[in-house]
Amino acid sequence: MSSPSSHQLHPASVVTSAGAPLRLYGKRIAVRPLVATDFEAWSEVRHRNGEWLSKWEPIKSTYLPDPSTNRDAFNNRCIARDRERQTGGSYAFGIFIDGSFAGEVNINNVVRSAMQCGTIGYWIDEARAGKSYMSEAVLVVSKYAFEELGLHRMEICIIPRNYNSRRVMEKLGIREEGLAERFLEINGVWEDHVRYGFTIEEWQQRRDQLTAEWLQ
Ligand SMILES: CC(C)(COP(=O)(O)OP(=O)(O)OC[C@H]1O[C@@H](n2cnc3c(N)ncnc32)[C@H](O)[C@@H]1OP(=O)(O)O)[C@@H](O)C(=O)NCCC(=O)NCCS
Repeated sequence: MSSPSSHQLHPASVVTSAGAPLRLYGKRIAVRPLVATDFEAWSEVRHRNGEWLSKWEPIKSTYLPDPSTNRDAFNNRCIARDRERQTGGSYAFGIFIDGSFAGEVNINNVVRSAMQCGTIGYWIDEARAGKSYMSEAVLVVSKYAFEELGLHRMEICIIPRNYNSRRVMEKLGIREEGLAERFLEINGVWEDHVRYGFTIEEWQQRRDQLTAEWLQ
């Protein structure tokens, strides 16, 4: 069997089960799975935002190749996310503004059975910050989760001192649920996180208002 070239795309990266490209839209943004050819744009944005992002992310492995400097590692990252999407474990997307890569938004840790839940994670290029793009992105993927994936609940977990991220929740009116102590490893420390919850019942109740404000 021949091995895939670095530019060959896994089918799940570009099509839905209906055969259409997986593209989701807000008023000003588009989101789609990242593919191998996004390497230059992704790595340029990641390099420029090292300090902006590292304090809010898990510490980088010193053993694994860095996808922001190594094209093959980036391609493998795309393929791993395609597989996760195909098996329903997580749904990772790049955020694009006027066609340019600007950040990422993911539905992680999808649990089915009695829970039907996913956890949203996100980041945006500092040069694009402050324009409420992330509020739009959170709603774009929440709509997809509730209406296409059939999930019941979205969760967003934020370090209490990350006021910028908590502001995204405030703007969207997403419900704060409480503090989970030492919840996630962030930059080498087990950090407390405020948990926010958004259920399909809340989406259905607020759908028209949120859609008019952020999506159409
Ligand atoms: C959290 C984050 C995704 C918010 O995205 P965003 O699209 O900028 O969100 P908003 O435009 O709603 O801005 C939220 C708040 O950030 C602050 N802010 C805006 N522009 C900023 C900038 N250039 N620099 C620092 N803070 C800024 C403001 O307080 C703003 O609130 P306001 O609009 O009421 O003034 C973004 O700040 C980010 O990527 N941060 C680094 C990674 C991170 O924290 N990820 C989330 C982990 S839970």
